[in-house]
Amino acid sequence: MKKSKWVVVLVLMSAMAFSLIGCGSTTEDTMSKIKKKGEIVLGTNAAFPPFEMRKGDEVIGVDAEIAKKIADKLGVKLKVEDMDFDGLINALNAKQVDFIAAGLTVRPDREEQVLFTDKYFKAVQKIIVREGDTKIKGTKDLKDKAIGVQKGTTGAIVAEEDYTKNVVRFNNGPEAAIDLKNGRLDAVLIDNLPARMIAEQNPGLVVLDEKAADDEEYAMAVRKSDKDLQKVINEVLSELQSSSRIDEWVEEYSFLQ
Ligand code: ARG
Repeated sequence: MKKSKWVVVLVLMSAMAFSLIGCGSTTEDTMSKIKKKGEIVLGTNAAFPPFEMRKGDEVIGVDAEIAKKIADKLGVKLKVEDMDFDGLINALNAKQVDFIAAGLTVRPDREEQVLFTDKYFKAVQKIIVREGDTKIKGTKDLKDKAIGVQKGTTGAIVAEEDYTKNVVRFNNGPEAAIDLKNGRLDAVLIDNLPARMIAEQNPGLVVLDEKAADDEEYAMAVRKSDKDLQKVINEVLSELQSSSRIDEWVEEYSFLQ
C-alpha cells in the first residue's frame, strides 16, 4: 500500500474512534445531561396529599415545592412525571426520571436499588375506617380484615406482614377510600398525613389514633451513581429544614380544601 493510502486509513480509523467516544454520551453523567437540557425530571405519584397531588395539569404539594427549589439551585426547569408509585424506582433506574420525590420511605430493600438523600420528614402508618364502625377500634381488630392499600407502598407491606391475607391493592390511597366508603373494605392503611387528608375529603371516614407500625422517614432518591446530584439535593433539604420551610409547606398543603 502507498504511504498516502495509509494516511487515509489512519484518518478513517481515528474518525471511527472519535465517533465511538461520541456514542459514549449515552453513559454521560446525569448532572451534565441536566445542565445541557436545562431540565431536571422529577418522578412522583401525585395522589398523596399533602406531599403531591394534582391541581388541573399541575402537580402541587410539599415534594413539588422542594423539587422546584432543587431545579432552582441547578438553574434548570423542573419537569414532572406523574406515574404509578410502584413503577417509580424502575423509572429512575431506566433513566426516565432523574430523581424521586414521593413521600418515599427509606427501607433497606429500597436502599439496594437507589441512593437515598438525607431524610426530610417523619411519618407513620395509620388506619382509616368508617365512622361509627365499632368492629375496628385499633390494630388488634385488623386480623383477617379486608385492608385497602396503595400498590408497592410500606402500607401494603405492613398490611400483609402484620395483619391480614386479605390485602386489596389500589393505584392510590384515594381510590381505596372509595371502596372503604362503599363497604367493600374494612380499613385502609396509609401514611398519617395522607390518611388525615383523605378522611377530611371523605365525610364518613375517620383515622384511628393508634399507630399501625413503627415510625418511618421520607427521603428523595437518585440513581446509585449520582452522588453529585444527591449532594445538591441534600444541600437544598438542609437549607429548607433550617428555615422550617418544609413544615410550613406541610401546613399550607394540609388545609387547602
Ligand atoms: N411512604 C410510603 C412508601 O414509601 C407511601 C408513599 C406513597 N407516595 C405516593 N406519592 N403515592 O411506601
